[in-house]
Amino acid sequence: MEIEEGRIGSRVFREKVMEAEEAAELIKDSMVVATSGFTPAGYPKAVPLALAQRAEKDPFQITLLTGASVGDELDGALTRAGVIARRIPYQTNKDLREAINCGGVKFVDVHLSHMAPMIRYGFLGNIDVAIVEVVKIREDGSLVLSTSVGNSPTFLEQADKIIIEVNISQPLELEGLHDIFIPEDPPHRRPIPLQRVSDRIGEPSIKIDERKLAGVVITDIKDDSRGFPPPDENSKRIAENIIRFLKKEIDEGRLPPDLLPFQSGVGGIANATLRGLLGLGIKDLELYSEVIQDSVLDLIEEGCLKFASGTSLTLSPEKRDYFNKNVEKFKEKIMLRPQEISNNPEIIRRLGIIAMNTAIEADIYGNVNSTHIGGHKMMNGIGGSGDFSRNAYISIFSTPSSRKGGEISCIVPRCSHIDHTEHDVQVIVTEQGVADLRGKTPQEKAEIIIENCAHPDCRAMLGDYFSRCKNECFGQTPCLKREK
Ligand code: COA
Repeated sequence: MEIEEGRIGSRVFREKVMEAEEAAELIKDSMVVATSGFTPAGYPKAVPLALAQRAEKDPFQITLLTGASVGDELDGALTRAGVIARRIPYQTNKDLREAINCGGVKFVDVHLSHMAPMIRYGFLGNIDVAIVEVVKIREDGSLVLSTSVGNSPTFLEQADKIIIEVNISQPLELEGLHDIFIPEDPPHRRPIPLQRVSDRIGEPSIKIDERKLAGVVITDIKDDSRGFPPPDENSKRIAENIIRFLKKEIDEGRLPPDLLPFQSGVGGIANATLRGLLGLGIKDLELYSEVIQDSVLDLIEEGCLKFASGTSLTLSPEKRDYFNKNVEKFKEKIMLRPQEISNNPEIIRRLGIIAMNTAIEADIYGNVNSTHIGGHKMMNGIGGSGDFSRNAYISIFSTPSSRKGGEISCIVPRCSHIDHTEHDVQVIVTEQGVADLRGKTPQEKAEIIIENCAHPDCRAMLGDYFSRCKNECFGQTPCLKREK
């Protein structure tokens, strides 16, 4: 494959260029393989596809660690080839999800900010091979990552062997977008010196121990990020309710006029809310989040967003092309950091983040389930929702009041699984309204959630449940006798 000058500036790396199949041979049965990639952006593609092909003739299994979800070339292809035995810390692939829920793959669901330190502390064992996508290898041998940072700095530091995928479909101009910083480990940790969303605290590239370099593979396969569907009616109404709530907070002096930095989950509700902020006339908004998605570029262009910090750039194909043509302009207002920093509790508290995440269901006492459908089937994982909600200035969870054409109420008597306890959930928003739970007792919460957030068809049932709880087992958090 032809590569332009400047992609591989170091001779040591040029000498290690090989085909994806040859690199895939370096991965053996039972190895722990750690890759770049976060919310399908910046993950390796050519070596995983070659691995999946190899497994058809020569079956083997690995433990796969990543930043977060990755594209189908990695999670999908390796699942279908039966290569993944164990997977940590987050995924969104349909085939992998099915394999997890039928016991074919063992999945460990981890807070995304915990992953890199857990590796360094030795909690997850040794990493045999790291496979990391880059746009460029500089003359000094340091690596310029592509569309995500995720856990790559720690994976590269900790792995025994390193395979690099140089992706020539990603623009060289991404150099300068990244801010690589690994905090010291306890007992020597110092405060992370990040005081503003736009602060640069680290390096634009990563230096590795070149003795560990096992191969360099060149690829032009694009990120499998398809963008997110446009917001439906419910998402728009949820977004309107969130915006109304924030406006009231500003008017009553609990939030500054230009708000505080935002974290938003991904998807329709988040996109609609971010777009809705345009209507508030705020000029100096900042985003301190995980994923930078399409609406962030719009907000920057409309002069509403001053700076966006994340760990991945997950754009639809159309927006990606637009971004690639205008990288230099956007680079002044966007920075990608390791997920250990983008999701760091110390920073989230310091900056006073407004956290907005989506729930599968919320119960009348304000507990939230983000991960398990029906209490037993894994959807995606906790992702960064726990990192942000526990440490935020205001923690907002949104969900439609019902799903599946009204068959399932998303406001339930008791969550079938709890990821975020009542202590981490300050505001619940549905298309019906807002339940502000701050300073409320469990019983007060129940009344507000049923009244403001439940679907009108479910309010009477939920109210009846709550009354029976109060009659049967009264206490701080009333319940039915059999629930005791
Ligand atoms: N009961 C049954 N099914 C439910 C359900 C419920 N209470 N809630 C959601 N579902 C189903 C949906 O119907 C849909 O199924 P389908 O694909 O068969 O239609 C599926 O779950 C996903 O729903 P969708 O509307 O596409 O989800 P979403 O985009 O609103 O995301 C979460 C919701 C909770 C799955 C998602 O936000 C998530 O994974 N959160 C955890 C991680 C996180 O918060 N990350 C951001 C931190 S920065």
